[in-house]
Amino acid sequence: MTANQAAHTVDIFIYESNVGHAIEKVVVTDSDIRSDRIRVAIRDLEKRFSKDVVALRGINLDVQEGEFVSLVGPSGCGKSTLLKLVAELDYPTSGNVARPGIADLPGSIGFVFQDAHLLPWRTVHRNVELLLEIQNLSVNERHRRAKEALAHVGLEGFEDAYPRQLSGGMKMRVSLARTLVLNPQLFLLDEPFGALDEITREKLNDDLVELTRSSGLTTLFVTHSVSEAVYLSNRVVVISDRPGTIVDEISVPFNERHRSLRNTQEFVNTCAVVTEMLYRGMEK
Ligand SMILES: Nc1ncnc2c1ncn2[C@@H]1O[C@H](COP(=O)(O)OP(=O)(O)OP(=O)(O)O)[C@@H](O)[C@H]1O
Ligand SMILES: [Mg+2]
Repeated sequence: MTANQAAHTVDIFIYESNVGHAIEKVVVTDSDIRSDRIRVAIRDLEKRFSKDVVALRGINLDVQEGEFVSLVGPSGCGKSTLLKLVAELDYPTSGNVARPGIADLPGSIGFVFQDAHLLPWRTVHRNVELLLEIQNLSVNERHRRAKEALAHVGLEGFEDAYPRQLSGGMKMRVSLARTLVLNPQLFLLDEPFGALDEITREKLNDDLVELTRSSGLTTLFVTHSVSEAVYLSNRVVVISDRPGTIVDEISVPFNERHRSLRNTQEFVNTCAVVTEMLYRGMEK
């Protein structure tokens, strides 16, 4: 290995997939990755759960630094599976996922699930501190970061409340804060607002836009809602019925996000294009 290559070892990823009992090693090097701003590089990804259940097939997707990409597709098409593969919570059957420039450290990937999964016996503040405790940070540092994250999601004054005293939207804010407190480089969200009423969801959408854009977070967001995907994203990727493949994608043409955007003709037209792609994916 040359000195130059050695300097770039951080950009070289070796993936081991334990399909059956055979170990297949796939190496993704810098030359496979077209831009130094790519933070997620998915190549020829397949995930098979059994002979009959192929969740994903032939997935190729790059996500750039600071980009907000939404994944939409019918139920069971493999969206959650894809997110878990990106987070290495599961292994592909073949193909690979590289995360160039994302540190291989605890907390560098933030994962927000559909349910807030708060610990009922801990206060809001102590729920947010939990992962910092696991990282053995000092009490002062934990306190400072948890307070800051709770302020970010608009929960000042609720630090000492227990989860049972919170609304669904507030619980989801705690869940966001619990992830943000880790200062992730890559933010993965799996239908985080699916169970919320429309107004709360729209408010959280605005907060999420502000949070991700102000910190330049690279974000992959799964949703069933076409309008949510179009509102939040720089790019919407549409996945077909199982086995999930990428049907198409669209770059979202808006710079500013404000709730009046949803009433504009351009927004409505963009949603219609995505809906049409979804139908195409269901008819494949
Ligand atoms: N651990 C598993 N074992 C076996 N099959 C699984 C497993 N996880 C997911 N599947 C199957 O893989 C397919 C994709 O599931 P996945 O949860 O990724 O879909 P999804 O697009 O997230 O659906 P939804 O929109 O309903 O959340 C489904 O057919 C599901 O039954
Ligand atoms: Mg899912």
